[in-house]
Amino acid sequence: MTLTHDVLVVGAGLAGMRAALEAKKQGVDVAVVSKVHPVRSHSNAAQGGINAALGETDSEEAHAFDTVKGSDYLGDQDAIEIMCREAPQDIIELEHMGVIFNRDENGRLGTRSFGGQTYARTYFVADFTGQAILHVMYEQLLKLGVKVYEEWFVTSLVVEEGTCCGVVVWELLKGQIHTIRTKAVLLATGGLGRVYEPSTNALIVTGDGMSLAYRAGVPLMDMEMVQYHPTTLKANGVLITEAARGEGAYLLNAKGDRFMKEYAPSKIELAARDICSRAEQMEIDAGRGVDSCVLLDCRHLGKELIMTKLSQIHELALDYANVDIIKEPIPIRPGMHYQMGGIKTDTAGATRIPGLYAAGECACVSLHGGNRLGANSLLETVVFGRRSGKAAAEYAKSIGHKNISESAATKDEQSIKTFLANKENRDTSARLRLEMGTMMNDRVGVFRTKEGLTDARSKIHELKDRYKRTPIQDKGRTFNTNLIFTLELGFMLDCAETIVVSALNREESRGAHYRKDFPKRDDEKWLKHTLAFYTPDGPKIDYLPVTITRWKPEEREY
Ligand code: FUM
Repeated sequence: MTLTHDVLVVGAGLAGMRAALEAKKQGVDVAVVSKVHPVRSHSNAAQGGINAALGETDSEEAHAFDTVKGSDYLGDQDAIEIMCREAPQDIIELEHMGVIFNRDENGRLGTRSFGGQTYARTYFVADFTGQAILHVMYEQLLKLGVKVYEEWFVTSLVVEEGTCCGVVVWELLKGQIHTIRTKAVLLATGGLGRVYEPSTNALIVTGDGMSLAYRAGVPLMDMEMVQYHPTTLKANGVLITEAARGEGAYLLNAKGDRFMKEYAPSKIELAARDICSRAEQMEIDAGRGVDSCVLLDCRHLGKELIMTKLSQIHELALDYANVDIIKEPIPIRPGMHYQMGGIKTDTAGATRIPGLYAAGECACVSLHGGNRLGANSLLETVVFGRRSGKAAAEYAKSIGHKNISESAATKDEQSIKTFLANKENRDTSARLRLEMGTMMNDRVGVFRTKEGLTDARSKIHELKDRYKRTPIQDKGRTFNTNLIFTLELGFMLDCAETIVVSALNREESRGAHYRKDFPKRDDEKWLKHTLAFYTPDGPKIDYLPVTITRWKPEEREY
């Protein structure tokens, strides 16, 4: 079946839904494709809040500078300035849509502190901010009558004569391939968290959009910049929000010392995430940890604050670690959380392929450079979701529909048949995923070396080879999640390879990318973005200058 829409948004998290709303407001025919129901998207898991300089003493400049510094000067300053300038209006708009942000004692929008920032500028809904915004956004989508293809999985982009004019998509329920013909496709598929094991990310976060764009010829930028969040549970990677430290919680080592005082004397627990995660790992590696963790101590915050502002992590800690944070410190450690890199776009979300846009975590505008500040990701989804939705709609208005061939759909149908016909062997996609994820965590985590990265590259080559022969146990077509798991693994292996090769090439330490063999930042050689281009033999690497508008690189101190 071939369907037709003007603008097709792939992904129904915050960036995708915000983009769809904006495109719809421009008067074009918009649809959304999502592999899950929209409110099951991973934006749901965002806990701590969303940044904007709305306070009387705060300013867009201060927000922009904190973001540039947080990025270790790899963020493009023109894009960062746009985000920080437009943030206040977007927060007010969210409030008007119906997001029930927490209030302060005067009844005004309340804020909390987040790491690496000069002012308390994080607006929040307790510690389930993403969930609150996601539900409101979905209501808006329903209100405007945007068509949603739920539980449809995009397998390829259709690019003809250099222009993106559709997607090939697998309908899970029926087990059928379709083509959707479009004037513009907007990828908002989120991050790639599950390339690592463990990760704070949901199982569905598998780098789909990044790989789709990469295979179609768009470079992936700064993929080596993978954020480890300082406070995750050891057993399963579950996120314990930075808002705990924002509200005043301490990080303690086995001796009971607030060790962050040694690493970041002025910000202490509220240093940027890369600094906190490295400090924790150094404490653990030096034998000052507790069962390969350090401790997050919330006890002095008191029951009332915890139960009103941090109720979700209270529940998560009880359920997943059997710890009541009101009564005892909780063991936590750095865990994979976010991909700063992604599909290279301009500040309107446009990629180098006409008709193809991207927004949210799958995109790299670039706002976060080497390290993202907490609560700037929800902000990115709304500011750049809106901007890219508008740009995609305007582009769609300027062109006509193309006739597209069925060859992409035929090719994807054939490759699914080949997977389904693979003979049993000792591999399963779950097994390959686990091998990939644990290897990435061991070799491409908080600390990296040439040796570890070289091993990682060989392991990915081995996994890619085994992947082609992965058997799929469920041979049916109806709601075959085993098949989806396998197709996702193909996307993840592409992403993993670009991360490893980009990291191997960057011979310096910047932001989240810390090379033990090159421990210093080297602006002379490395103040540049990495671009990874697809080739059948693996990524080809090139570089691009960083846009500096107002802030010359300086040493970062917190
Ligand atoms: O810690 C957190 O609540 C995470 C926020 C973020 O990644 O922006």
